[in-house]
Amino acid sequence: MDKMISQAVIRRLPRYYRYLGELLDDGVERISSNDLSKRMHVTASQIRQDLNNFGGFGQQGYGYNVAYLHEEIGNILGVNETHNVIVIGAGNLGQAIAGYVKFEKHGFRIIGLFDINPELKGKRVRDLTIQMLDDLPEFVKHNDVEIAALTLPKTSAKTVAMKVVNLGIHAIWNFAHVDLDDIENVVIENVHLSDSLMQLSYNITQHKN
Ligand code: NAI
Repeated sequence: MDKMISQAVIRRLPRYYRYLGELLDDGVERISSNDLSKRMHVTASQIRQDLNNFGGFGQQGYGYNVAYLHEEIGNILGVNETHNVIVIGAGNLGQAIAGYVKFEKHGFRIIGLFDINPELKGKRVRDLTIQMLDDLPEFVKHNDVEIAALTLPKTSAKTVAMKVVNLGIHAIWNFAHVDLDDIENVVIENVHLSDSLMQLSYNITQHKN
Protein backbone atom coordinates (compact mmCIF):
# COMPACT_ATOMS: atom_id res chain seq x y z
CA MET A 1 0.00 0.00 0.00
CA ASP A 2 1.62 3.30 -1.12
CA LYS A 3 -0.40 5.67 0.98
CA MET A 4 0.12 6.12 4.71
CA ILE A 5 -3.15 5.58 6.52
CA SER A 6 -3.63 7.62 9.67
CA GLN A 7 -3.57 5.75 12.97
CA ALA A 8 -7.00 7.22 13.75
CA VAL A 9 -8.45 5.37 10.75
CA ILE A 10 -6.57 2.18 11.60
CA ARG A 11 -7.98 2.33 15.12
CA ARG A 12 -11.53 2.45 13.73
CA LEU A 13 -11.07 -0.53 11.40
CA PRO A 14 -11.43 -3.29 14.01
CA ARG A 15 -14.86 -1.90 14.85
CA TYR A 16 -15.91 -1.97 11.19
CA TYR A 17 -14.54 -5.50 11.02
CA ARG A 18 -16.53 -6.56 14.06
CA TYR A 19 -19.82 -5.05 12.81
CA LEU A 20 -19.37 -6.53 9.35
CA GLY A 21 -18.66 -9.91 10.95
CA GLU A 22 -21.95 -9.65 12.85
CA LEU A 23 -23.80 -8.72 9.65
CA LEU A 24 -22.27 -11.72 7.94
CA ASP A 25 -23.40 -13.97 10.80
CA ASP A 26 -26.91 -12.51 10.37
CA GLY A 27 -26.84 -13.39 6.67
CA VAL A 28 -26.79 -9.77 5.43
CA GLU A 29 -25.18 -9.63 1.98
CA ARG A 30 -25.02 -5.92 1.35
CA ILE A 31 -25.48 -2.71 3.26
CA SER A 32 -25.63 0.97 2.40
CA SER A 33 -23.28 3.36 4.15
CA ASN A 34 -26.39 4.96 5.70
CA ASP A 35 -27.54 1.69 7.26
CA LEU A 36 -24.04 0.86 8.41
CA SER A 37 -23.80 4.33 9.88
CA LYS A 38 -27.04 3.88 11.83
CA ARG A 39 -25.89 0.56 13.18
CA MET A 40 -22.49 1.84 14.18
CA HIS A 41 -23.51 5.32 15.33
CA VAL A 42 -20.91 6.88 13.05
CA THR A 43 -21.81 9.36 10.31
CA ALA A 44 -22.17 7.95 6.80
CA SER A 45 -19.63 10.47 5.58
CA GLN A 46 -17.10 9.26 8.15
CA ILE A 47 -17.60 5.70 6.90
CA ARG A 48 -17.16 6.76 3.27
CA GLN A 49 -14.08 8.80 4.13
CA ASP A 50 -12.52 5.98 6.13
CA LEU A 51 -13.15 3.36 3.49
CA ASN A 52 -12.03 5.66 0.69
CA ASN A 53 -8.54 5.40 2.14
CA PHE A 54 -8.46 1.89 0.79
CA GLY A 55 -10.16 2.49 -2.52
CA GLY A 56 -13.72 2.68 -1.26
CA PHE A 57 -15.10 -0.84 -1.76
CA GLY A 58 -18.57 0.62 -2.23
CA GLN A 59 -20.62 0.98 -5.40
CA GLN A 60 -22.99 3.84 -6.07
CA GLY A 61 -26.57 2.66 -5.59
CA TYR A 62 -25.51 -0.75 -4.32
CA GLY A 63 -23.75 -0.01 -1.05
CA TYR A 64 -21.17 -2.33 0.34
CA ASN A 65 -20.83 -6.02 -0.26
CA VAL A 66 -20.55 -7.21 3.34
CA ALA A 67 -18.46 -10.36 2.75
CA TYR A 68 -16.06 -8.55 0.43
CA LEU A 69 -15.62 -5.57 2.74
CA HIS A 70 -15.15 -7.84 5.75
CA GLU A 71 -12.50 -9.81 3.88
CA GLU A 72 -10.70 -6.70 2.64
CA ILE A 73 -10.63 -5.00 6.03
CA GLY A 74 -9.43 -8.32 7.47
CA ASN A 75 -6.60 -8.29 4.90
CA ILE A 76 -5.68 -4.73 5.79
CA LEU A 77 -5.64 -5.59 9.48
CA GLY A 78 -3.71 -8.77 8.75
CA VAL A 79 -6.20 -10.90 10.65
CA ASN A 80 -6.80 -13.31 7.78
CA GLU A 81 -3.35 -14.75 8.47
CA THR A 82 -2.28 -16.65 11.54
CA HIS A 83 -0.10 -14.80 14.05
CA ASN A 84 1.63 -16.86 16.70
CA VAL A 85 1.62 -15.19 20.09
CA ILE A 86 3.39 -15.96 23.34
CA VAL A 87 2.35 -14.54 26.70
CA ILE A 88 5.04 -13.63 29.21
CA GLY A 89 3.84 -13.30 32.80
CA ALA A 90 1.40 -16.08 33.67
CA GLY A 91 -0.40 -14.29 36.51
CA ASN A 92 -4.04 -13.19 36.56
CA LEU A 93 -3.97 -11.26 33.32
CA GLY A 94 -1.61 -13.57 31.42
CA GLN A 95 -3.72 -16.62 32.25
CA ALA A 96 -6.93 -14.79 31.34
CA ILE A 97 -5.53 -13.84 27.94
CA ALA A 98 -4.10 -17.29 27.33
CA GLY A 99 -7.43 -18.81 28.32
CA TYR A 100 -9.50 -16.72 25.94
CA VAL A 101 -10.27 -18.85 22.92
CA LYS A 102 -11.74 -16.24 20.63
CA PHE A 103 -8.46 -14.53 19.73
CA GLU A 104 -7.94 -17.52 17.48
CA LYS A 105 -11.01 -16.60 15.48
CA HIS A 106 -9.09 -13.50 14.40
CA GLY A 107 -5.93 -15.39 13.61
CA PHE A 108 -4.08 -14.87 16.90
CA ARG A 109 -2.89 -18.25 18.10
CA ILE A 110 -1.45 -18.33 21.60
CA ILE A 111 1.24 -20.98 21.51
CA GLY A 112 3.25 -20.36 24.67
CA LEU A 113 2.88 -19.05 28.21
CA PHE A 114 5.98 -18.15 30.25
CA ASP A 115 6.79 -17.04 33.77
CA ILE A 116 9.70 -17.00 36.21
CA ASN A 117 7.80 -18.35 39.20
CA PRO A 118 8.79 -22.04 39.56
CA GLU A 119 5.50 -22.73 41.37
CA LEU A 120 3.67 -22.10 38.10
CA LYS A 121 5.87 -24.43 36.06
CA GLY A 122 3.84 -27.16 34.39
CA LYS A 123 0.45 -25.68 35.33
CA ARG A 124 -2.08 -26.00 32.49
CA VAL A 125 -4.11 -23.15 31.07
CA ARG A 126 -6.41 -24.41 28.34
CA ASP A 127 -4.10 -26.48 26.11
CA LEU A 128 -0.97 -24.62 27.20
CA THR A 129 1.55 -25.60 29.83
CA ILE A 130 3.29 -22.77 31.67
CA GLN A 131 7.00 -22.81 30.92
CA MET A 132 9.91 -21.04 32.53
CA LEU A 133 11.32 -17.95 30.87
CA ASP A 134 14.74 -19.61 30.65
CA ASP A 135 13.24 -22.00 28.11
CA LEU A 136 12.16 -19.15 25.82
CA PRO A 137 15.26 -19.08 23.54
CA GLU A 138 14.87 -22.79 22.77
CA PHE A 139 11.12 -22.36 22.23
CA VAL A 140 11.65 -19.48 19.81
CA LYS A 141 14.15 -21.58 17.83
CA HIS A 142 11.51 -24.22 17.17
CA ASN A 143 8.40 -22.06 16.85
CA ASP A 144 7.56 -19.17 14.62
CA VAL A 145 6.69 -16.55 17.23
CA GLU A 146 5.53 -13.21 15.89
CA ILE A 147 4.08 -11.41 18.91
CA ALA A 148 4.98 -11.35 22.61
CA ALA A 149 2.30 -10.20 25.03
CA LEU A 150 3.86 -8.78 28.19
CA THR A 151 1.63 -9.27 31.22
CA LEU A 152 4.27 -8.89 33.89
CA PRO A 153 5.23 -6.23 36.43
CA LYS A 154 6.47 -2.98 34.97
CA THR A 155 9.81 -3.33 36.75
CA SER A 156 10.78 -6.25 34.51
CA ALA A 157 8.95 -5.25 31.33
CA LYS A 158 11.83 -3.41 29.68
CA THR A 159 14.40 -6.16 30.31
CA VAL A 160 12.04 -8.84 29.07
CA ALA A 161 11.09 -6.74 26.04
CA MET A 162 14.78 -6.37 25.08
CA LYS A 163 15.21 -10.11 25.54
CA VAL A 164 12.34 -11.00 23.19
CA VAL A 165 13.52 -8.50 20.58
CA ASN A 166 17.03 -10.00 20.74
CA LEU A 167 15.45 -13.39 20.13
CA GLY A 168 13.93 -12.02 16.91
CA ILE A 169 10.38 -11.23 18.02
CA HIS A 170 9.46 -7.85 16.61
CA ALA A 171 5.96 -7.15 17.89
CA ILE A 172 5.00 -6.53 21.50
CA TRP A 173 1.52 -6.32 22.96
CA ASN A 174 2.39 -4.45 26.11
CA PHE A 175 0.11 -4.50 29.16
CA ALA A 176 2.74 -3.39 31.66
CA HIS A 177 2.33 0.25 32.60
CA VAL A 178 5.66 1.38 31.25
CA ASP A 179 6.75 3.09 28.08
CA LEU A 180 8.74 0.80 25.80
CA ASP A 181 8.91 3.20 22.87
CA ASP A 182 12.68 3.61 22.96
CA ILE A 183 13.35 0.02 21.92
CA GLU A 184 14.38 -0.19 18.27
CA ASN A 185 13.17 -2.59 15.58
CA VAL A 186 9.92 -3.46 17.25
CA VAL A 187 6.28 -2.51 16.86
CA ILE A 188 4.55 -1.95 20.15
CA GLU A 189 0.88 -1.75 20.99
CA ASN A 190 0.29 -0.51 24.52
CA VAL A 191 -2.95 -1.50 26.20
CA HIS A 192 -4.21 0.44 29.17
CA LEU A 193 -7.64 -0.63 30.38
CA SER A 194 -7.50 2.28 32.81
CA ASP A 195 -7.48 4.72 29.86
CA SER A 196 -10.77 3.25 28.76
CA LEU A 197 -12.12 3.59 32.31
CA MET A 198 -11.01 7.21 32.48
CA GLN A 199 -12.77 7.84 29.18
CA LEU A 200 -15.88 6.31 30.74
CA SER A 201 -15.44 8.46 33.82
CA TYR A 202 -15.17 11.57 31.64
CA ASN A 203 -18.33 10.63 29.78
CA ILE A 204 -20.18 9.99 33.04
CA THR A 205 -19.18 13.48 34.17
CA GLN A 206 -20.42 14.97 30.88
CA HIS A 207 -23.65 13.03 31.16
CA LYS A 208 -24.35 14.42 34.63
CA ASN A 209 -23.84 18.03 33.57
P1 NAI B 1 0.15 -10.95 38.61
O1 NAI B 1 1.01 -10.56 39.76
O2 NAI B 1 -1.02 -11.84 38.83
O3 NAI B 1 1.06 -11.64 37.47
C1 NAI B 1 2.34 -11.22 37.09
C2 NAI B 1 3.13 -12.46 36.71
O4 NAI B 1 4.35 -12.03 36.09
C3 NAI B 1 3.51 -13.32 37.91
O5 NAI B 1 3.09 -14.65 37.70
C4 NAI B 1 5.02 -13.19 37.99
O6 NAI B 1 5.64 -14.35 38.48
C5 NAI B 1 5.36 -12.93 36.52
N1 NAI B 1 6.66 -12.30 36.34
C6 NAI B 1 7.29 -11.40 37.11
N2 NAI B 1 8.48 -11.07 36.56
C7 NAI B 1 8.59 -11.80 35.43
C8 NAI B 1 9.59 -11.92 34.44
N3 NAI B 1 10.73 -11.23 34.49
N4 NAI B 1 9.39 -12.76 33.41
C9 NAI B 1 8.25 -13.49 33.33
N5 NAI B 1 7.27 -13.43 34.24
C10 NAI B 1 7.44 -12.59 35.27
O7 NAI B 1 -0.30 -9.59 37.94
P2 NAI B 1 -1.50 -9.33 36.90
O8 NAI B 1 -2.68 -8.90 37.64
O9 NAI B 1 -1.60 -10.50 35.99
O10 NAI B 1 -0.94 -8.09 36.12
C11 NAI B 1 0.21 -8.24 35.28
C12 NAI B 1 0.68 -6.88 34.77
O11 NAI B 1 -0.31 -6.31 33.93
C13 NAI B 1 0.92 -5.86 35.87
O12 NAI B 1 2.05 -5.08 35.50
C14 NAI B 1 -0.31 -5.00 35.87
O13 NAI B 1 -0.07 -3.70 36.32
C15 NAI B 1 -0.64 -5.01 34.41
N6 NAI B 1 -2.05 -4.80 34.09
C16 NAI B 1 -2.30 -4.01 33.04
C17 NAI B 1 -3.55 -3.78 32.62
C18 NAI B 1 -3.73 -2.91 31.44
O14 NAI B 1 -4.83 -2.54 31.11
N7 NAI B 1 -2.66 -2.56 30.78
C19 NAI B 1 -4.72 -4.35 33.29
C20 NAI B 1 -4.37 -5.23 34.37
C21 NAI B 1 -3.06 -5.44 34.75
